[in-house]
Amino acid sequence: MGSLPQRIVFVLLSTLLLIAGAGEATAQAPDTSVADSLARTVPSGASDADSTDKDAPYVPTTSAVVDTMLQVAGVSSDDVVYDLGSGDGRIPIAAAKKYGARGVGIEIDSALVAKARARARAAGVADKVRFRQGDLFNASLEDATVVTLYLWPEVNIRLRPKLLRELDPGDRIVSHDFRMGTWTPERAVYAGEGNTGPERVYLWTVPADLPADLTDISGEIDSFRVDEKNE
Ligand SMILES: C[S@@+](CC[C@H](N)C(=O)[O-])C[C@H]1O[C@@H](n2cnc3c(N)ncnc32)[C@H](O)[C@@H]1O
Repeated sequence: MGSLPQRIVFVLLSTLLLIAGAGEATAQAPDTSVADSLARTVPSGASDADSTDKDAPYVPTTSAVVDTMLQVAGVSSDDVVYDLGSGDGRIPIAAAKKYGARGVGIEIDSALVAKARARARAAGVADKVRFRQGDLFNASLEDATVVTLYLWPEVNIRLRPKLLRELDPGDRIVSHDFRMGTWTPERAVYAGEGNTGPERVYLWTVPADLPADLTDISGEIDSFRVDEKNE
């Protein structure tokens, strides 16, 4: 993943899903910049070396949307914020710097892990955040209280049983742009205009009693699967 055609597909899919979900969004003042738009479409720092293992390409979340994600999750200094597919580390770093939370990033791309560690040192929060190189599906989430996502819709659905199994009741999940299949978000918040249109942040809270239909994802994956071999 991560080639130009794949990134274009990612952005197009994002736009289509945003249009589909526009009706649920909560209005807020637009807040974006040209630099943020460019950051969304011209990522830097990703390595192609291990890109074949990726479940989603590297497209960084803008700083305005990062702020919205952390606000919507109600992050505080009591939280441990996990970003699954952490890119250059901006979400855990912002959670530590702005809210005093602890942060953990799981990222498969070793070049991005190195970049995230350097950014954490530069931001003065290296003691509060950790970046681990590895597959997010193998990471233990037991100590997370907030999980942040900017992945594909299909990946969110595949993650759903793991999130519900390993997180505790009351823990929060926030996702940039993409929902989690049939699990209805409790909030859908407009987070500003990106270069492909409106950006949204979705919030779920892990319930005390897990409905069986949330942990059974059979039948939900196929409708979202992108056949990468045809790209
Ligand atoms: C859309 S980017 C989001 C980056 C960051 N979370 C942000 O919002 O700025 C998705 C990230 O997930 C990483 N990724 C993709 N598949 C992964 C996997 N199986 N395990 C860990 N990281 C993965 C990619 O390398 C990329 O950095």
